This record gives sequence, structure tokens and C-alpha cells, in this order.
Amino acid sequence: MKIHPAARLQGSLQIPGDKSISHRSVMFGAIAQGTTEVTHFLQGADCLSTISCFRKLGIEIENTSDRVLVHGKGLRGLTAPSEILDCGNSGTTTRLISGILAGQPFDTVLTGDESIRRRPMKRIMEPLSAMGAKILSQRDNGCAPLLIRGSSLRGIHYHSKVASAQVKSAILLAGLYADSPTAVTEPSLSRNHTELMLKGFGAQAASCGSTAFIAPAKELHACKIEVPGDISSAAYFIAAGLLAQGSGILIRNVGINPTRDGLIRACQAMGGKIRLENLRETGGEPAADLFVEQSALHGITLEGDIIPAMIDELPVAALLACFAEGETVIRDAAELKVKESNRIAIMTENLRAMGADVTETEDGMIIRGGRPLHDAEIDSQMDHRIAMTFAVAGLFAEGGVEIRGAECVGISYPGFFEDLEGLRR
Ligand code: S3P
Repeated sequence: MKIHPAARLQGSLQIPGDKSISHRSVMFGAIAQGTTEVTHFLQGADCLSTISCFRKLGIEIENTSDRVLVHGKGLRGLTAPSEILDCGNSGTTTRLISGILAGQPFDTVLTGDESIRRRPMKRIMEPLSAMGAKILSQRDNGCAPLLIRGSSLRGIHYHSKVASAQVKSAILLAGLYADSPTAVTEPSLSRNHTELMLKGFGAQAASCGSTAFIAPAKELHACKIEVPGDISSAAYFIAAGLLAQGSGILIRNVGINPTRDGLIRACQAMGGKIRLENLRETGGEPAADLFVEQSALHGITLEGDIIPAMIDELPVAALLACFAEGETVIRDAAELKVKESNRIAIMTENLRAMGADVTETEDGMIIRGGRPLHDAEIDSQMDHRIAMTFAVAGLFAEGGVEIRGAECVGISYPGFFEDLEGLRR
């Protein structure tokens, strides 16, 4: 896919539903009593993997263009699948479903694509085993395929080494099936959709700082969920709006949960003009329209608590840093190495190929902005966030950019290229 440079970008767009919330709406709906109705569900490949897994666990799910209906069967209503569950490219599906499966009275085998079979699963195997679960990495390498033997579980207080909502959520979901309360403490607070949404489904969930609690549940009850737009998808249009000559882009209906809004805060600290309008609540989550204008950016240091709040947006933040005056340092972000690809290595290599001044570090990157970018051929390594980041890069590079494996954007944003092209003026 070739992306040509843009003269001007202008207009407005509606962002697809949030990926994290879409996954959870199906999972929690499946183990609740009654029918959960989900609107603005993200029809990306990852969320479709979650639907497919729960169908194999005996849940009827109607997926039409305007809504998803999940006919939940209650906490103990899942049935043993007759085949291996395929989580595709989705880390969220693999890790969260493991927490649910750990407490079932049957065994399951989980696997996924090549990328999923390389991603670390020990981070969920350890705490779930401490709760009494029996989970085996079938190749004994700490990765999927995983054999999960349903067991009776006990509550624990787990101190996680990494700030990870997937780890936290797996433990909290297993905690619903445990015989006593469960708590998870993280080094920094990760996205809190599980805590917020489980409360909406009637679970006794609470949080205090970076500790989340859950009580064993008798039953969850179905909900209506309107999924807000995904800030991780909006991120590419925020970046494009900040960089394009004479731009003005209105991005409608974006979730701005404070555990997710790190990119907005970081861009504003870099001098980016982003105005939040029409603030409201959608599906129990704060949402707003974002108006973004071309801005003169300067470098900053991104570290500590803001990192988990923009973990998926760090690649596009690194791109923005190439256009900022001075140095940007990204640290405390070693988690980037274990995403769909090693995002520190791939960003460094590809930004350099386009002429940027970037140094890879153990836990991030140092970017010295101000060098113009030029054309290059980029291999996405089938990582959707890398493909979308370099599509934006192509708009502002002399000669544009050629992206190999661009179709992987369908993981989280099926209409991405159409929406991007629609803003050219
Ligand atoms: C997610 C959590 C994050 C994020 C991923 C979605 C979630 O992963 O990168 O895209 O929905 O819980 P980690 O928990 O591994 O940080």
C-alpha cells in the first residue's frame, strides 16, 4: 500500500468502537445472566476472535451491523468446546479468557497466530496457578498453545511486576470464581475498563490507587453497553491533525478514560493544540469530541505513570517526536517489546530508514526531532499499530511511504485507510 504525501487535511470523522471495551462486552455478557446488547461494537479481527471463542463455549451471539446481542448463560453456563479455541492475533482474548477458563469445570486448549504463540503467557500462568488453576504451556516455552484445566480457585493478593490490564483482568475474572476475595496491585495503574464494567454487570469490584479488588460472585446480570470510540484509533488522526499544514480535524466520540488518555496529555505537553468538546459519558466511560489543529511541537520526556495510559500510542508518539523541536525521551516502556511485535526495535529501524535520528534503549527510545523524513518501504510485521503509524508518517515524508502487510489494520480499524484518505483536501 502506497501512502502519498498530503498537502492539507481537514474534516471530521467518527472513530470505531473501543477494542478493549468491545472484547469485555462479549466476555462479560457471556458469563452474565440474560441478553447483553452492545452498540458501536468494534468489528475488528481481534474482537471477532473473542466472539468466535465464546460461540465455541456454547454462547449464542448475534452480530449484526447495528448491534451485538450476547445471550449470556450465567457464571456457570459455559460448555466444554469441541475444538481448540483460536484467539487469532489477540492478546486480550488469550489472557482474559484464560482467567475465565481457569474456573470452569472442563479443560480447554487455547492458541493463536504466530505472533500470539510468541507472546509471554507466564505473566498470567503464575498468578492463576497461585489461585489453584492448572495451566500448561504445551511447548513448555511460557507461550500458547495453553492447556487450561478447570479447577476450584482461591482468592489471592497478587503484586504484579508489570502494569498490565490483561494480567490484572485475567486475575479479576478468575476471582469471580474463587472462594474468597482477590486483589491485584500493579506498579502503575493500567486501563481500568474491567473494574468499571464488571461493576456495571453487578460484580463487587473496587479499586484504590493501583490496587483492584473483586469479590467472588454468585451471578452477573446482563447490561446495555454503548461502546465509545477508541482513543487508540483516534491517535493516528490526532497525530495527522497536529502535523498537517492548516489542518483542522474533528474526531467525534472518543473515549477519554484517564487510564487511556496519556497521548492527549503528552501531545498537549509538547505544545499540541487539542480541544476537548462536548464532554459526556458513554457506556459508563467519559467521552468527548476532539478538535485538533496544526501545532509547533517540542520534545519532552515520557516516563512513569503516563506510560501505561498511552502504551499502544507510543509508536505514534515516537513519530510525532520526529517532527518536534529538540529531544524526546521515552523510558519505562520495556512492555513495548512484547506487543504484537517488538515495537521499540521496529519503530527505531523504520524511523531511521525514513531519515529520523532515533536511538533504541533498553526500555524506550531517544528521538532527536527536526530531520525531515523521506520515502521508504516499511514492513509492518503484521502489527496493526505499526502499519497505521507509518501510514501517518507517509503523509509527511517526502515521496510518501510504501507499507508491506498494510491489511493488518483490520485487527483494530477495518476502515482506516478510507478514513485517512477522506481527510485530504
Ligand atoms: C489491553 C491492554 C494492554 C494493551 C492492549 C489491550 C486490554 O495490554 O496494550 O492493546 O484490553 O486490556 P497489556 O495489558 O499487555 O499492557
